[in-house]
Amino acid sequence: MSASAGGSGVVQVAGEVVANRRVGAYHHLTIVAPGVAELARPGQFVALAVGGPTSANLLRRCFSLHKVKASGTYGGTLDVVVAAHGPGTQWLTGLSAHDAVDVVAPLGRPFPLPAEPVPCVLVGGGYGSAPLFWLAEALRERGCHVEMVLGAASEDRLFGVVEARRSADGVTVTTDDGSAGRRGWVSDVLGEVVDRTGAGVVYACGPMGMLRSVTEVAQAHGAVAQVAVEESMACGIGVCMTCVMPVRGTDGTTRMVRSCVEGPVFRGDLVRWDAIGGGITRVPEDAVGAPRPGGH
Ligand SMILES: Cc1cc2nc3c(=O)[nH]c(=O)nc-3n(C[C@H](O)[C@H](O)[C@H](O)COP(=O)(O)OP(=O)(O)OC[C@H]3O[C@@H](n4cnc5c(N)ncnc54)[C@H](O)[C@@H]3O)c2cc1C
Ligand code: FES
Repeated sequence: MSASAGGSGVVQVAGEVVANRRVGAYHHLTIVAPGVAELARPGQFVALAVGGPTSANLLRRCFSLHKVKASGTYGGTLDVVVAAHGPGTQWLTGLSAHDAVDVVAPLGRPFPLPAEPVPCVLVGGGYGSAPLFWLAEALRERGCHVEMVLGAASEDRLFGVVEARRSADGVTVTTDDGSAGRRGWVSDVLGEVVDRTGAGVVYACGPMGMLRSVTEVAQAHGAVAQVAVEESMACGIGVCMTCVMPVRGTDGTTRMVRSCVEGPVFRGDLVRWDAIGGGITRVPEDAVGAPRPGGH
């Protein structure tokens, strides 16, 4: 069963779990979701209903689209990589084959692809690697040289290292504790990968702190950063304003924009990282509509 949301390029479908596999610290779920693959692009995300039809968890939970398939044994499918965190993700990771899950996808803006072949570095932190393999494929189809830098706190929190070796022309792995690859952060090795490859674009997905460092390193080494943020989202469709974050426009003005519809992919150098940190996003004083002393 499927319904188009007013021709906006989003579908809501009654999905069915095909497989739920454990991959290190994560669960890799494949869900039958006809119609999604035809509309989706790398960098977009899916909002999944959690808890079943009688659940008090009314808000959907958002996940990067890892893979999509337009057809196959089960009809169209989508894949997501889920870290069990709170009640919603625990419910999802507990699902078995044939269980139902309601799907709204694809949401958000995809990663912009370069018009000309240009070397690119794709950087993933933990499950943030999930959307990068499909992106790597799209970039290589366009003739781009693609390298990946995958990082995590420890080996079990890395996602997709084996797949990366197939999807990319070169792979560098880092872990905070040195249990796999080079000890340290992705940002510690990124500069040398950008210099060696002459990368013009760095694409990244992962925690906010990582995206900020990736942006700084990319800029310092002459590359543009395109970052996919994972801000808390409640509605996922631009209605509730839970997900707003300060981003400079091309006119230099900072506005609070909705990361679910204006993002989740932003040019890193336009994000006001100075107002984001410690799990809190502030409204910078110079942002349009910021509260003024004595104002109402
Ligand atoms: C674009 C995007 C991509 C993501 N991709 C992945 C991924 O690939 N894999 C993965 O594991 N995780 C991903 N996440 C994170 C994932 O959505 C959260 O970890 C998940 O929502 C946690 O749900 P929970 O019920 O387990 O945890 P909880 O912490 O109990 O619930 C978090 C949810 O509560 C709601 N919420 C929280 N704060 C507020 C608030 N102040 N007002 C209203 N609602 C609120 C939101 O719906 C939020 O998603 C992504 C997030 C985003 C935004
Ligand atoms: S999550 Fe509701 S506006 Fe973005």
